[in-house]
Amino acid sequence: MRGWGGDLLENLIHREEIGSTNDDLKKLIRFGEVWEGALVLAERQTSGRGRNGAAWTCEEGKGLTFSVLVRPHWPKERWGWVSLAAGLAVAEAMESLSFSPQIKWPNDLLLKDKKFCGILVEAMGDDVVVGIGLNVKGEEKSFPEGVEATTLEAVAGYECSREQALERVWRNLGQVMKRQPEEVAEAVWERLAWRDEEILLLNDGQGETGVIRAFGSNGELQVEVGGELRKVSDVSSVRKS
Ligand code: BTN
Repeated sequence: MRGWGGDLLENLIHREEIGSTNDDLKKLIRFGEVWEGALVLAERQTSGRGRNGAAWTCEEGKGLTFSVLVRPHWPKERWGWVSLAAGLAVAEAMESLSFSPQIKWPNDLLLKDKKFCGILVEAMGDDVVVGIGLNVKGEEKSFPEGVEATTLEAVAGYECSREQALERVWRNLGQVMKRQPEEVAEAVWERLAWRDEEILLLNDGQGETGVIRAFGSNGELQVEVGGELRKVSDVSSVRKS
């Protein structure tokens, strides 16, 4: 059966090589060839994209690069929560495999303060493409110098299955998307990196310190700066202090 109630295999569109799974899924949406829960998985991406125009690279066979079609049942003015919901879906899936990840707002996933998963969410009409890059295998030293990244295996110290991680994330994404944004907010807050800690807010080259205190109504950060709460929507402005 196609959709969240079925098996992953019935929802899987497998590509050996593709530019970007997000772009491929968007093309399928344009042609009306997909359904909620459809997942495009690529063994190789030739132009994998991250946020803010960055590239996303993944050594073949080491990680997972895939995109899932979700149709949020929330009003569009609450779609800011989809990013956080996707991060939560990955976090809970990893918890079911005995990891203890943190969510770095809005949707990076950290293990021991190092990124192991990045998420790129792109809306298209009533559809949302959730693109996920997850580092499963390999050592930390395989990442370029200066990149603070890790993999499931590097943290666990034992072999991890890409198939199992993929299945858990996909199934849990379907579950999380059925919840209300308030429930998502609470669960993300429990797992939020730098929660109630001092952070650096960058604005036009200027840095100010603040403390992350809460979420806004659409998943923005509420940061306390000089005794007042400030709404922060720009991910590139938040740094660890
Ligand atoms: C980030 O951390 O900046 C987001 C990275 C998202 C990468 C994934 S890999 C699968 C999907 N296809 C893409 O082109 N990007 C996302």
